Amino acid sequence: MIEKRIMSGMRPTGKLHLGHLVGVTDNWLKFQEENECFFEIADWHAMTDRSDYSAIKRNIFELTKDWLALGIDPNKSTIFIQSFVPEHAVLYTIFSMMTSVSRLQRSPVYKDRIAGESTIKNPTIGLLGYPILQAADIALYKGTHVPVGKDQAPHIELTREVIRRFNGLYKEIFPEPQTILTENPRLIGIDGRKMSKSYGNFISPGDSIETLEGKTREMITDPNKVRKNDPGNPEICNVYSIHAIYNPNRSIVYNECVSGERGCVDCKAHLAKVLGDYFKSFREKREFYDNHHETVREVLFDGSNKARRIAISTLDEVRDAIGIGTL
Ligand code: TRP
Ligand code: SF4
Repeated sequence: MIEKRIMSGMRPTGKLHLGHLVGVTDNWLKFQEENECFFEIADWHAMTDRSDYSAIKRNIFELTKDWLALGIDPNKSTIFIQSFVPEHAVLYTIFSMMTSVSRLQRSPVYKDRIAGESTIKNPTIGLLGYPILQAADIALYKGTHVPVGKDQAPHIELTREVIRRFNGLYKEIFPEPQTILTENPRLIGIDGRKMSKSYGNFISPGDSIETLEGKTREMITDPNKVRKNDPGNPEICNVYSIHAIYNPNRSIVYNECVSGERGCVDCKAHLAKVLGDYFKSFREKREFYDNHHETVREVLFDGSNKARRIAISTLDEVRDAIGIGTL
């Protein structure tokens, strides 16, 4: 059996919400117990859709502190910053010679970004090349498994294509990575749409009890359950969908809803309490890292140095394989 190498990343665009946890980091935590893991803060990817970079540095810290508070452990996993490892740019350049423009233009993610209103009017080479940069990220660490959100699957598919091409033309250096999704890849936000930062409909693990109470109060329930004692249908209730993930007593919630013993107002307050309890240690650890900013900086420097050593050695193999960059 080939050894698993876990490679994944996120763009530093702000704090995490439950959608990220359920869709992505829950898998990271599982993998990190038994496998070599590389988790990247993709700051170059964050540059692809904006020209104002002023928030990126702060967001690198927000994201790292969230990861650490969730339990991503720098003694087990390598946590690093993409831009601290310039080898990503070198491999990106090489991979860009093996990828057609039309293939990139056909990427559903790219098409989505440039279509319709409130989208990118003047797409750059950087945006078009986004998946090649991601392929370079994965390949430099010889990632075999890439635990990401569902929206990233097209990028991993393109990564596989680039890698296949490279391996076929030059030398079998890279494993073809597999996309790993969680069982529950999509979480619904408080307004009933997909939980997303841009909709402002998210719940964060760091939310205070008061915030949780406010947010759960707004959530959409079974619209047919009007009065307190009406029987309800948890299957179509957004409040229940989160109980189902975080509440160990989910079956009580279910049964009481179906039998009409439970009112939605109480059920929402109950959910706020469940989430508040569940994320108590997260909030404490998050506060610790806020008060130990230097520690977080060190984690990032150490991890980036470690990542870079591996990236350099992979890139040496690449130079040998293609015969460019060596004499
Ligand atoms: N594009 C990913 C996202 O937006 C982040 C990312 C960058 C990534 N490089 C990666 C994910 C490599 C997995 C592997 O979430
Ligand atoms: Fe949803 Fe709870 Fe109301 Fe049932 S009682 S519809 S699970 S909020």
